[in-house]
Amino acid sequence: MDSQGATLPPHVLIFPVPIQGHVKSMLNLAELLCLSGLDITFMVSDFSHNRLLKHTTVVSRFNQYPGFRFQSITDGLPDDHSRAGQEVMDLLPSTKNITAPLFKQMMVEKNLFASETRRPVTCIIADGSLPFAGDFALEKGIPLIYFRTSSACSFWAYFCIPELIEAGEISVEGIGMDQIIESVPGMEGFLRFRDLPSFCRVNDINDPNLHIMKSVTRQTTRAQAAIFNTYEDLEGSVVSHIRKHIPKIFTIGPNHFLLKSRLAEKKADNSILSGSFWAEDRRCLDWLNAQPPKSVIYVSFGSITVVTREQLLEFWHGLVNSGQRFLWVTRPDSIVGEDGKNQTPIELEEGTKARGYMVGWAPQEEVLNHEAVGGFLTHSGWNSTLESIAVGVPMICWPYFGDQTVNSRFVSEVWKIGLDIKDTCDREIIEKAIRELMEERKDEFFERSQKMANLARKAVSEGGSSYRNLDALIDYIKTMIV
Ligand code: UDX
Repeated sequence: MDSQGATLPPHVLIFPVPIQGHVKSMLNLAELLCLSGLDITFMVSDFSHNRLLKHTTVVSRFNQYPGFRFQSITDGLPDDHSRAGQEVMDLLPSTKNITAPLFKQMMVEKNLFASETRRPVTCIIADGSLPFAGDFALEKGIPLIYFRTSSACSFWAYFCIPELIEAGEISVEGIGMDQIIESVPGMEGFLRFRDLPSFCRVNDINDPNLHIMKSVTRQTTRAQAAIFNTYEDLEGSVVSHIRKHIPKIFTIGPNHFLLKSRLAEKKADNSILSGSFWAEDRRCLDWLNAQPPKSVIYVSFGSITVVTREQLLEFWHGLVNSGQRFLWVTRPDSIVGEDGKNQTPIELEEGTKARGYMVGWAPQEEVLNHEAVGGFLTHSGWNSTLESIAVGVPMICWPYFGDQTVNSRFVSEVWKIGLDIKDTCDREIIEKAIRELMEERKDEFFERSQKMANLARKAVSEGGSSYRNLDALIDYIKTMIV
């Protein structure tokens, strides 16, 4: 490299799993690194890229950073594939078989995205769930950092799958759903079999998905470092267990909150970075403006969950019978019939229109931050959980799959900022939980949620753990230039 090239900043390739929760969280990371002047190539699937172009302003937002580039690549699935419900698992073989070789070829042919103004990629920050990106980095000797978009608690439970198998604690028939699990250090006493990541719910310990999850998690130790979207006051004790296997861990969460704090510090536009794959219906904010403080329960099950018509009706009756105001997101592809085809959402009846509002997709961060919102009925996706924690909104958890079953147990039993109704879908249970959260135990949940939110604010403010860890991460990336 000539003397001019020697002054070029590090060049980081960021590669998320091509689904909403992962892309959104890694876009936040990308902007945080751009703010420090790093060059970024952001690998995004054609499908995700088209959705971002259609429904967000991310392109104009990132135009202000001359070092930022999108690079799109196929995720290996046809455009009309649902990428929702259990079918999202199709991304595992498609990215492995189709995306991985193309990625390798692209990296080599494009000389690691080097140009006159950019170094060849100096570090890959790959989604921890994309081991092929790690394979490439290791093969070419490029420094590798894994980014985990899920919680530390769920990662640690996944990490302990070999010990769980060894101890005979994975077997639905053998131990029963409410059996307390002993093989996840730090979680003895409160983690039940039903709270383990949903991939552990198998009758056969040779189940292929269980083993994929085990090896995807264990291979994280190959990286020089890992980034977790969490903060020390929330999950520090769990992270200390993981540090025994991955010594260099940067906790920089909630990263959407850290981004807001860093932008404010630079007196830059600190509006929310929307990475939505669906059109946000902003009219719900006007509706919220007309509701009393803390009176509305916000209902959303994220970007992958699908529900049957029967489940939808249970939620509907539970919400209506609770007598509370509600704002309910039903994604266009989230309701499936017995034939597997998408169904239309419920229409609000005249009587409930005054206290209910339904949208296909909401500006969630803004909704959660709205003073009218007093509770969140959620699927416990990690982004949703962090977004709720950051603004002190208590939760009712109805986890759908994967990491969500662990997150919901932590919400109810460890942080005590909500209720966990996993594995039930009954109108009476839903109604009771809503009344408990929004009326009977409102003050108690609100107080604890506020404390947790204050700790999140502290973590992302100057001197806080996530704030310092981001600086340390950037310094570390700078040391990787050879
Ligand atoms: C799932 C997992 O559960 C998550 O933990 C994992 O890391 C990724 O896959 P998902 O269903 O997308 O994720 O949930 P979540 O992680 O909560 O992400 C959903 C995102 O969509 C959130 O950032 C949320 O703000 C956003 N969203 C959701 C909206 O912007 N509007 C909506 O109406 C609903």
